Amino acid sequence: MVLLVLALFLIGGCGGNAATKTPTESAPASEKIVIGFSLGTLKEDRWQRDRDNFVAKAQALGAEVVVESANADPAVQTTQVGNLIAQGVDVLVIVPEDGELAASYVEKAHAAGIKVLAYDRIIKNSDLDLYVSFQNEKVGELQAKGILELVNKGKFVYIGGAPTDNNAFQFKAGAMDVIQPKIDSGDIELVFDKMTDEWKPANAYANMKSYLDTGGEVDAVIAANDGTAGGVIQALTEKGLAGKVPVSGQDAELAACQRIVEGTQTLTVFKNLKPLAEKGAEIAVAMAKGEQVATNGKVNNGKIDVPSVLLDPVLVTKANMMDTVIALGFQSYDAVYQNVPADQRPAQ
Ligand code: BGC
Repeated sequence: MVLLVLALFLIGGCGGNAATKTPTESAPASEKIVIGFSLGTLKEDRWQRDRDNFVAKAQALGAEVVVESANADPAVQTTQVGNLIAQGVDVLVIVPEDGELAASYVEKAHAAGIKVLAYDRIIKNSDLDLYVSFQNEKVGELQAKGILELVNKGKFVYIGGAPTDNNAFQFKAGAMDVIQPKIDSGDIELVFDKMTDEWKPANAYANMKSYLDTGGEVDAVIAANDGTAGGVIQALTEKGLAGKVPVSGQDAELAACQRIVEGTQTLTVFKNLKPLAEKGAEIAVAMAKGEQVATNGKVNNGKIDVPSVLLDPVLVTKANMMDTVIALGFQSYDAVYQNVPADQRPAQ
């Protein structure tokens, strides 16, 4: 893991102008800390792991977690966060469905003396207290570099994430950093560039299909995550192109890992969710206690540089599937290789 310089950061100093709990208002040692954990969605597999790992770690640290999930509906998340604030949780941990709208959650929370940790997705234009995530630009860089290993010129398609999710822009920025010089030199032409509403595979499929249906040609696709990659690969399959056109992804979802070992998806980016969730729970508990948190970076959210803890993502291809996703127990060998004939599987 690439570790940036660890900087000690005093939580009490990071709330901007917002009202903060005074030490006497912080949860007394004898009382159980209550963490409000609001997830914008549980749709992709990963979020259920995030929730479960987070709750397990928080409980091990003696805290209680109230979990809410908004089914990808920002209005529902607004109500749920309002309820958590009204319940008087000690700290809020939020995966925003809409990173702009969520600025109002930070304001409300601060007015009630509650600090906010953004989890995986940043909250924009606010005095957000802390952010825990992965190096999201690096995710995009790995996607583009992995594709360039196979195809380094021709017609490229970019299928991005949801426009309400700041991560989608970070992933794209990282990928563009890698391919822009080749666009400038004329080696690569970006022939189709579309974001995917709500990160829905069906929307990615419809976008890719619309491009192909109008006779569009494609040599490679950078898809922002495994869900969108799945939609893209379905559209390619219908044109007899699956396995011929490299496609990236992210999340190391089971279906994506299967496609990788079977040859229709080129790569995924593995983000180890357990360390993320455990870091998140540790930070949340420290915030509730008014303790210092060690950070290793800053991410600008449009208003301030938010002190951040950023973990390192890992590129996964067929070649290192065994040493990464399988070795770490993120997916099982049997499940990933279930459609690969026994004599073609790597040794266990
Ligand atoms: C996460 C990805 C996920 C996507 C869709 C992003 O914010 O970082 O891991 O695939 O949202 O849920």
